[in-house]
Amino acid sequence: MIRNVLVTGSTGNVGSSLIPLLASRSDCTVTAMTRDPGSAGQNFPAEVQVVGGSFEDEASLIAAMRGIHTVVLMAPPNPGCVQQNRAVVDAAKTSGVKKVVRISAIKASENGRTENTRLHGECDTLLVESGLQYLILRPNYFMQNIMMSLDSINSNHCFYAGTGDGKFAMIDIRDVADSAAAAAITDQFNNEIIEISGPQSISFHDVAATLSEIAGRQISYVAVSPDDVKASLLGMGFGEWMANLLGEYSEAYGAGWGDLVTDNVQRLTGNPARSFSRFATECLAPRLR
Ligand SMILES: NC(=O)c1ccc[n+]([C@@H]2O[C@H](COP(=O)([O-])OP(=O)(O)OC[C@H]3O[C@@H](n4cnc5c(N)ncnc54)[C@H](OP(=O)(O)O)[C@@H]3O)[C@@H](O)[C@H]2O)c1
Repeated sequence: MIRNVLVTGSTGNVGSSLIPLLASRSDCTVTAMTRDPGSAGQNFPAEVQVVGGSFEDEASLIAAMRGIHTVVLMAPPNPGCVQQNRAVVDAAKTSGVKKVVRISAIKASENGRTENTRLHGECDTLLVESGLQYLILRPNYFMQNIMMSLDSINSNHCFYAGTGDGKFAMIDIRDVADSAAAAAITDQFNNEIIEISGPQSISFHDVAATLSEIAGRQISYVAVSPDDVKASLLGMGFGEWMANLLGEYSEAYGAGWGDLVTDNVQRLTGNPARSFSRFATECLAPRLR
């Protein structure tokens, strides 16, 4: 049977990988929700239906979910994300949606170590208690975050981070998308909360070594303090909330928070999780100067 899937956060980092994956399948239709359907539609494959919708507009959510079986729920990190997730879950119940696949974050918990972890924990709980079928994916740190340092790597042959010698099992966003697609189109993993990671825990020293090898020149990791990370983000124009969040995460990852390897990508998708070296070769190398 063909399953109708709606993806929120469709133009974001994970959404941009997930939409083409779902669009290429013959066993589902995919609808991409965005606040700006005019421009987003141009970037998606022709099979994708694009609908306007905002977490703050209940009527738009209900309209977007008409005839939908499964919602893939992604919202950006922000202080209002619990209300946003609640709005989506409430609209899903009103609209007769059967299942919600939520992209959460590693070790999400209401008593978690960072504010974002606690907010994700609250969102996970409200979905679990909703009565809807659910599948919650909790990804580790995204490999693609290094793309934010591309200018520095290209211009100064170095990148900065606040995680010290901490090792974490960073994951390729393509594996998050593959896992979300598997979760959305089958019922094999319903009502589970699943931590997903890359194949091994690595530090930014390891990242620098891999990048140096691939680039054929020395690329260095400059370790700075989590407070320096926060100050630098504020200097770049990030808001206080986001700068705090990334400072907190730096501290947590530096202390081993992300040192959690699972084989759940393989269990969900049938394929092993991509290594950092593969990510760097396929996604980063073409953009190195
Ligand atoms: N970065 C990491 O290392 C990491 C690790 C683990 C988990 N996560 C979690 O993964 C999740 C997905 O992350 P991501 O990076 O893919 O997200 P993202 O790139 O920040 O994208 C989120 C999308 O949400 C949409 N959006 C924003 N505000 C909205 C609103 N008010 N109403 C409706 N849509 C709205 C935007 O699309 P439009 O502008 O088109 O509306 C945006 O493209 C997040 O919850 C994050 O916390 C991240």
